[in-house]
Amino acid sequence: MTDIDWDELRHAATAAMERAYAPYSRFKVGAAALVSDGRIVAGCNIENASYGVTLCAECTMVGELFMTGGGQLVAFVCVDGEGKTLMPCGRCRQLLFEHSIPGMLLETVSGIRTIDEVLPDAFGPRDLEEAAR
Ligand code: THU
Repeated sequence: MTDIDWDELRHAATAAMERAYAPYSRFKVGAAALVSDGRIVAGCNIENASYGVTLCAECTMVGELFMTGGGQLVAFVCVDGEGKTLMPCGRCRQLLFEHSIPGMLLETVSGIRTIDEVLPDAFGPRDLEEAAR
């Protein structure tokens, strides 16, 4: 696997965070990931007056993943409004799992971890395929 430039990812996540639309929580979030083909995708949270409609930064990042050619996520960073490492919420761990290589790496508050460590025994596409057999 290619070396992961965590500083570059953190920089991309922080730049994305600056574009967040978070007038309700005032909690800006940026996310960035290295894709299997070497490109970097990023996203920011976009809130809504109907609070539950809010898009997390990971959601808009996955949108960019698909809009720029797809692929699988290899390494991921999420930051808060101060640029500090932020853990992806539970729903977004599920979202990341679906689009990550096995063993995708995340920068977490407790160091570099794999997607399986932050979402153990994950439900995923394979469960649906097995049920359909
Ligand atoms: N948020 C994210 O963008 N990603 C996460 O993983 C955690 C939470 C956003 C959603 C909302 O706009 C704000 O942070 C406060 O919850």
